[in-house]
Amino acid sequence: MLVTAQPVLRRFWYPTLPIADLDAGPQPFTLLGQDLVLWADKKGRPAAAVDRCSHRFARLSKGWVKDGAVNCPYHGWAFNSSGRCVEVPQAPGQRIPHGYKVTAFRCEKRYGYAWVCLDEPLDVIPELPEAADPRFRVMHLDSELFHCSSTVGVDNALDSSHHHYVHGTTLGDSSSPLPMAVQDLRETANGLFMSFPLRNNGSTLRDRDIDDRATSGPITLIRQLTWYVPFTVRIDIKFPSGIQAVTLLTYTPISDSTCQYVGVLARNDTERDFSAKAAIAEIATIVKEDKDVLECVDYDLPLHAAQQRHMASDKASLMMRRKLHDLLTAHGETEVTRTGPGGTP
Ligand code: FES
Ligand code: FE
Repeated sequence: MLVTAQPVLRRFWYPTLPIADLDAGPQPFTLLGQDLVLWADKKGRPAAAVDRCSHRFARLSKGWVKDGAVNCPYHGWAFNSSGRCVEVPQAPGQRIPHGYKVTAFRCEKRYGYAWVCLDEPLDVIPELPEAADPRFRVMHLDSELFHCSSTVGVDNALDSSHHHYVHGTTLGDSSSPLPMAVQDLRETANGLFMSFPLRNNGSTLRDRDIDDRATSGPITLIRQLTWYVPFTVRIDIKFPSGIQAVTLLTYTPISDSTCQYVGVLARNDTERDFSAKAAIAEIATIVKEDKDVLECVDYDLPLHAAQQRHMASDKASLMMRRKLHDLLTAHGETEVTRTGPGGTP
């Protein structure tokens, strides 16, 4: 599936840049092939519009922000968060025609990021209740550009059998390729839920950071994964010590073959137990392991199961394909692949 060729994907929220990045002025971001300018208005609320001035099509992200409006670097026209042109410096005091506007998009601040939806939303921004729970602290993971599609990213998150290969010394157990049985796998209203234990043998997770009481031998991590259509997942890891690490991550679609890994981590321990810097670095190590392999996977993931070969542990991946296929069908779309519309069934 080529994500930029499926308009329904424009109807979901995606995290883009950290809100803090907007302090430096307007910033560019590309979402589903759409070049955007993001900036903060007078009240610090994020705003998003096409990164193309209506005058001579200069990039607004190269400009500056004044009084909450983004100013074009070429002749200084200013646009507010609705996209309306509010100033033409060459025609002071004159009425500005409505048609001078640029297209603006819905943009919301959540979990410290600017979330953007390019069309009428079909769903809300995925919830992360821990972000408002005083027992948890919330951290931003390092955003990372992945040279793979968002669908390949989500497919990997739902894959319970790669850990012993890709994360053999971090999350998994390189001494055995056998995944533990998935305990629970079911559809939800807007995605999937699955729970699978992960044998964790000799990793830094166990030894240094998480469970001081487990000093030797493997431990079993309970991983719960909730997928929100189309490209967000929540991963709950429960450690034997009672510590919980909750990650809400999105493979924000930039183009058909690239996505931005954007993640928020919530943990119910303290900075003294495990510094935020160390927690973020630890996940970055795991993310790098995924990135290295995902960037060698074909980005055009087919939704039709018959086009690939599968094994028992791929059940969630196949359910994901079916859900995305049904989403397209429900909105009158057919899958578009590199070879054209209607991917071979
Ligand atoms: Fe933007 Fe002229 S190109 S003001
Ligand atoms: Fe992985």
